[in-house]
Amino acid sequence: MVIHCLIAYKDITMRNSVLLLSASITAASANEVAKAYIPYVWNTTAPEIHDHPVQAQNGFFYTGGNADGVCPTYEPNCASSNTTIISGPTTSPYNPNVTDAFWLGVLDPHGQEMVMIGHDFRYTLPKTNLGNGPNEKAINTPFSVEFDDFSQQTVLRFNGDDWVGCQVLDTVTGRIKPDLIVQALTFGSVLWANAFEYKCTPFKMRLEETTAPAVDYYRRDCPDKWKKCCPELCVS
Ligand SMILES: *[C@@H]1O[C@H](CO)[C@@H](O)[C@H](O)[C@H]1NC(C)=O
Ligand SMILES: *[C@@H]1O[C@H](CO)[C@@H](O)[C@H](O)[C@H]1NC(C)=O
Ligand SMILES: *[C@@H]1O[C@H](CO)[C@@H](O)[C@H](O)[C@H]1NC(C)=O
Repeated sequence: MVIHCLIAYKDITMRNSVLLLSASITAASANEVAKAYIPYVWNTTAPEIHDHPVQAQNGFFYTGGNADGVCPTYEPNCASSNTTIISGPTTSPYNPNVTDAFWLGVLDPHGQEMVMIGHDFRYTLPKTNLGNGPNEKAINTPFSVEFDDFSQQTVLRFNGDDWVGCQVLDTVTGRIKPDLIVQALTFGSVLWANAFEYKCTPFKMRLEETTAPAVDYYRRDCPDKWKKCCPELCVS
């Protein structure tokens, strides 16, 4: 069995930059080199979302707004707290033969993996080495970094496909949220969302390489049921 190791590495000279190192260097992982990126919406015919940052917010990704980055205690006003930094690809934690896992760029040594839960693009709970919460089926791969001929941009794909941003109801205000929630096109999200008459807009996820410093972790609150069953999963 191959042991995989994700190391969040604090580089003194580069001020907290995160390197994701896979301990198992395989032939497959030589093809793609893990890098840190900031993801953006690319769709020039949808100016209302074009060039918005794709932001990690409480376990989901949205086309805009601020990221829920939590600063390390030693630097409470860290520069990247409202920026989503992603890193990859690395060897899959579930299959040593493929290099297609992606992570949020964090200092948390457990990492925060990017996953699909149902049709939603999500990320795992902070401060736990458990892949995901109880009773949720997550699909972590395949992510790939590709050069897209149409947009002439470097993009992130899931299962070889692009993305959609869909309108979503804010259960607190009872209104549609200003930012669209990100889903994988590969699961036919457009059809799913249209069933609720919420508008979805396809887009390509443009990646911009970055050396911005990492945050400690990105917030994702525990649902109440998890707080009851498994409080050890929940950062208080
Ligand atoms: C993020 O925070 C910085 C500094 O606090 C600010 O200059 C920048 O406009 C913010 N970005 C967004 C998207 O709000
Ligand atoms: C990885 O490749 C090896 C050798 O070809 C194979 O035995 C193994 O089943 C593969 N693992 C997975 C999870 O596909
Ligand atoms: C951009 O959005 C428009 C309007 O929803 C859609 O028709 C088009 O396919 C999208 N383009 C890309 C490249 O995703």
